[in-house]
Amino acid sequence: MPLVTLSYLLKRAQKGKYAVPAFNINNMEILQGIVYAAEKEKSPIIIGVSEGAIKYAGLDYLKAMVDVAAKSKVKMALHLDHGKDIELIKKCIDAGFTSIMIDASFHDFKKNTEITKKVAAICHKKGISVEAELGKLQGVEDNVHVEKGIFTDPDEASLFVKKTGIDALAVAIGTSHGAYKFKGESNLRFDILRKIREKVNVPLVLHGSSQIPIELVRQANTCGAKIKGAKGVPNNDVKKAIKLGICKINIDSDLRLAFIAGMRQALCNDPDCIDPRKILGSGRSAIEKIASEKMRFFGCKNKN
Ligand code: 13P
Repeated sequence: MPLVTLSYLLKRAQKGKYAVPAFNINNMEILQGIVYAAEKEKSPIIIGVSEGAIKYAGLDYLKAMVDVAAKSKVKMALHLDHGKDIELIKKCIDAGFTSIMIDASFHDFKKNTEITKKVAAICHKKGISVEAELGKLQGVEDNVHVEKGIFTDPDEASLFVKKTGIDALAVAIGTSHGAYKFKGESNLRFDILRKIREKVNVPLVLHGSSQIPIELVRQANTCGAKIKGAKGVPNNDVKKAIKLGICKINIDSDLRLAFIAGMRQALCNDPDCIDPRKILGSGRSAIEKIASEKMRFFGCKNKN
């Protein structure tokens, strides 16, 4: 089935009151694990590709793999995650991506609006969806380091959506990229999310939403990793966010964690093994398992 747009998937999710996972991919095994899970759960998916993933694997390789994945019956969008480089955005458009995130959130409101509007116009001419971010998410992702987060202002959000014509808005309410999200308890600003929802009617997106399951951290650590103090978004917070209108949930760290825990386990179980297929295959199975769990948890099982 041909790739679908982000807008198509998120409008259905908004109506059905569930969220579609946006999973970041970097290689074949990660993509396969996600697609196998989506086939099993009959779930739509958003395949997220970051600028770092493109640097690592190459745009042509990633697009070719997604084209093969799209031969399945799964409804999927191919999405550029945190696009900052306009030239690369244009390459992704030409390559056949069906969704672009323009992330100019590090600029002030005026400049962010200006750049986002320009990219939205280019994408919409080609029938491609556009996501943009207002506010700043804390954390490190693909070498982009933001020291201090800034919450999205609900009034600015309303103006931003009107002025730019974007199809989905990523909000900053206290989540952050990476495996170390909170020192103490989580303290997401659901009051802000509620106000944004009242003022904005495009689908809302939550980045930095990995839950960092403790059992995966334990598994990795038992097999030699040294992951200390990792903490993700609690289950209840994710559920609440979906209830308050979040329709797209970005997950990268949980996949990374599952992948390395699965591979470490295989290496631990069989120290003599020199067959990369056994190691990578174990990582792929771990991806399939966690991707399935997300689909069920976000309510998009049987929503393909
Ligand atoms: P996590 O680091 O919580 O998985 O977030 C990923 C993300 O938001 C990608 O855009």
